[in-house]
Amino acid sequence: MKSLKRIYHFKKIDSTSAYLLRRRSVLRNFSFCSADFQTSGKGRTGRKWQAASGENLLFSLLVSDKYLVNSFRLLSVASAVAVISACEKFGVKNLSLKWPNDVYADGKKLCGILLESVSDDGEIAEIVIGIGINVNQTEFDGDFYREPTSLFLQTGKKINIGDFKKTVYKEIIRTFKKIKRGDLSFLDKAKSVDFLKGKTMFAEIDGEKKQVTVIGIEKDGLKVVVDGIEKTLFYGEVSFHV
Ligand code: BTN
Repeated sequence: MKSLKRIYHFKKIDSTSAYLLRRRSVLRNFSFCSADFQTSGKGRTGRKWQAASGENLLFSLLVSDKYLVNSFRLLSVASAVAVISACEKFGVKNLSLKWPNDVYADGKKLCGILLESVSDDGEIAEIVIGIGINVNQTEFDGDFYREPTSLFLQTGKKINIGDFKKTVYKEIIRTFKKIKRGDLSFLDKAKSVDFLKGKTMFAEIDGEKKQVTVIGIEKDGLKVVVDGIEKTLFYGEVSFHV
């Protein structure tokens, strides 16, 4: 039997994504887990996600709806667009989306998104979308590919994390429900805030370092020119060093 409860919050947990992954068989679609602090927050490419306690929005969303799971290539960009819309409502300006899953403000990293999937019999059964948004934090320790920022640093205003959480959750669910109806209008927004568009840089494609020029975000992935040929890169296939 699936649990009726859908919203979970912890003061301290290992990782909100790990929690949903552990309990996925008893949790319903769109179960949501947030935490004030994570002891083992996961970032992309095996890195850790560190965030000061109580100052940020750290949450994960379980997606088990078949249609959405099968549209997994869209979910990362859709989540980022939803985060951007929520941040705009809280006064953040100059937001951009670094395909497929970082949100920048003034070119600094405001939010990271990590998608993890679980397969049953070779088919993706569930997806956990983990999102970390820097909200009120002002100091960041560590080595970063890209300088971090927060909503507070960008707007000069302390943000009520509970209010912000509700807004982000609503935006994500609204965007995902639209996808279910075949409405992919989030892509227009993604294209309008595409950070990589027009940039020439190195990308690691299937383990090989290549120079690519980015044409832009498309439904299926990121369209680039590599070795003079147009190619669409899929989510998970590539890492960029801008
Ligand atoms: C990145 O490396 O940019 C992605 C970071 C994703 C971090 C979030 S915080 C909430 C959720 N739980 C985790 O353990 N990771 C994600």
